[in-house]
Amino acid sequence: MYAITISEPGGPDVLTWSEVPDPTPAAGEVLIDVAASAVNRADLLQRQGHYPPPPGASEIIGLECSGTIAEVGAGVSGWRVGDEVCALLAGGGYAERVVVPAAQVMPLPHGVDVVSAAGLPEVACTVWSNVVMLAGLSAGDVFLVHGGAGGIGTHAIQVGRALGATVAATAGSADRLARCRELGAEITINYREQDFVNEVRAATDGHGADVVLDNMGASYLSRNVSVLATGGRLTIIGMQGGITAALNIGELLGKRAMVAATGLRYRPVDGKDGKGRIVADVTGKLWPLVADEQVEPVVGLVVPMRDAARAHRVMEAGEVVGKVLLRT
Ligand SMILES: NC(=O)c1ccc[n+]([C@@H]2O[C@H](COP(=O)([O-])OP(=O)(O)OC[C@H]3O[C@@H](n4cnc5c(N)ncnc54)[C@H](OP(=O)(O)O)[C@@H]3O)[C@@H](O)[C@H]2O)c1
Repeated sequence: MYAITISEPGGPDVLTWSEVPDPTPAAGEVLIDVAASAVNRADLLQRQGHYPPPPGASEIIGLECSGTIAEVGAGVSGWRVGDEVCALLAGGGYAERVVVPAAQVMPLPHGVDVVSAAGLPEVACTVWSNVVMLAGLSAGDVFLVHGGAGGIGTHAIQVGRALGATVAATAGSADRLARCRELGAEITINYREQDFVNEVRAATDGHGADVVLDNMGASYLSRNVSVLATGGRLTIIGMQGGITAALNIGELLGKRAMVAATGLRYRPVDGKDGKGRIVADVTGKLWPLVADEQVEPVVGLVVPMRDAARAHRVMEAGEVVGKVLLRT
């Protein structure tokens, strides 16, 4: 098969469409003929040599895919050759074929075509596990989404709205904020010009945010704690603004608030903290919202997989709203 390989860590041009050995499914795994994969911010780091795959995972970049099951490993039940699926991967997505534990495979949500589905597993599992399973977002909550026009953000806004939350979103330009509004954000904040703490408080009569989904990490920690309402929950999923920052425990304690940080890629497949449990919850509870068109895939760009370098350049330039897909 062909796959995107990395000649050496570096810029987008190190991504090369090369012939590599076909993977074969072990017990408990399925082999997928890939229709499409999608670009994640983590892929840019892996390309630069900063984000190694977990032990045992493919060295090929790619955290999600969609396609057709081509082979089923020993002991797998529930999937058959020919099923159209999408899957959460620990690696290997930028390829014509990939193997994945059966527990990380999902049916296509009703009404979503196989290519568009490639951009759903990573955003769906990240947003659902953090915002719903961990932070318990519910109807009536104020939900602040940072980076509302990105892949994660466009999905998070829709999930928040579908669950009956009042959604606030930050983005870096008027155009991107307009897109956040179309997706369901009622409070929109230009992070280059406005202070999100003041804006969220002003728009909520001083209440603040019950749940914050944060991609920035260190640079936003203190303001994220400030914007939390009493009993608020901050979930940090990214470190675009750095790794280390001081936490005001007094403020947190006074608000009886929670700060958590989680990563998806290095989780085990099984167990109560595992990817399988998240995938099952997403399939059972989020896919019906997608089938009902309350949550839709937001695809900003589709490029041929062999042009992955172009896709990485576009993502690095921040030019796209939603997901960038790589079609085989
Ligand atoms: N922990 C996990 O399991 C997990 C899983 C998936 C993704 N992530 C992380 O989630 C984040 C988003 O991923 P993605 O795939 O959605 O990437 P993306 O599409 O490239 O989005 C990145 C977002 O960051 C926003 N941003 C940049 N500077 C900002 C600032 N100062 N304040 C607020 N937002 C800012 C951008 O907003 P503008 O474009 O409007 O400037 C853009 O929306 C990344 O940090 C990624 O590593 C974590």
